[in-house]
Amino acid sequence: EKGGYAHFMLKEMHEQPKAVADTLNPRLRDGEIVIEELGMSDDEIRQIQKIYIVACGSAYHTGVTAKYVFEGLARIPVEVDLASEFRYRNPIFGENTLVIVVSQSGETADSLAALREAKANGVRVLGIVNVVGSSIAREADNVMYTWAGPEIAVATTKAYSTQLTAQYLLALKFAQARGLLNAEEIACMVSDLKRLPEQISLLLSHKENVQKFANRYLAAEHVFFIGRGIDYAISLEGSLKLKEISYIHSEAYAAGELKHGTISLIEDGRLVVAVLTQPSLYRKTISNIVEVKSRGAFVMAVTNVGNTEVEKVADYVIYIPETNPYFANSLAVIPLQLFGYYVSIGKGLDVDKPRNLAKSVTVE
Ligand code: F6R
Repeated sequence: EKGGYAHFMLKEMHEQPKAVADTLNPRLRDGEIVIEELGMSDDEIRQIQKIYIVACGSAYHTGVTAKYVFEGLARIPVEVDLASEFRYRNPIFGENTLVIVVSQSGETADSLAALREAKANGVRVLGIVNVVGSSIAREADNVMYTWAGPEIAVATTKAYSTQLTAQYLLALKFAQARGLLNAEEIACMVSDLKRLPEQISLLLSHKENVQKFANRYLAAEHVFFIGRGIDYAISLEGSLKLKEISYIHSEAYAAGELKHGTISLIEDGRLVVAVLTQPSLYRKTISNIVEVKSRGAFVMAVTNVGNTEVEKVADYVIYIPETNPYFANSLAVIPLQLFGYYVSIGKGLDVDKPRNLAKSVTVE
């Protein structure tokens, strides 16, 4: 049942505030992060020397963001792998390696195979899974559930948001156990996390503006998404959301890579979506916007409220509310989900069931 919404995807986008809160709240006790299901003492957390995050599709994109958060806050080296690559590449497992498998369905064949490969090598596997009792949940050593509820639309939205939330919590927990964040810093970041649901609601309430903009691009043939650092990870997801449901060719590029090839594809009227949520990288990405603008691109930017510099260079700017830069993905992805959705329905496509795609990929 779509609960009064035109499509499951729209309904599920609107369920994100609750899904994020439901994933967050059970793990917060008086401002402390408690993840009982992790089954690891602080001592064991301190021993971790390497993390592999393994997943497919959008779940993989949450891992790309989480790498920045784990490395930035907990100073543990992280490799993020596509499950279909990881399982065949003979990865190096040390004694103090933790493998995190991220999956909504818990049934993705390659992710399950990667889990088994890790376990066969005696490595501890933590599953971040949405479907209770699914194969990955059953076979992982420990499971941290994302409490998104059933997700029906093929294009993931609320599961993606809860996968991010779960990984933020883990990174904060690991950083605290390793003595890299004190109680005050944790409390401050936890209060930012607690504000996410209401901030996501605010972004969803501006959906008509995104729809108006999307309607101008129904005939686009190619769209490019650019960003640096976490903004690159956000771009990966924005691009996938658009292409899978609108059938428009789109690509995400690390903004600094543009001049190594892709910029040759920029021509008059080409839509470029630039993501700028990381203050330390604003200036660099702004210079990339200037470069594509001078070749005729039309630039839509997603940036933090207050970063009005972007208005001087981009054609259309969407602002996200203030949060810790590590958590910005949770907000910036909302207008990008809406953009993909409105382009798809504007073109009259079956947004909940795009051609050739299955909700759960149980074949290799
Ligand atoms: C994209 C999408 C897919 C999934 C991927 C992994 O919107 O939904 O890319 O993220 O197939 O699926 P799970 O998380 O079930 O392992």
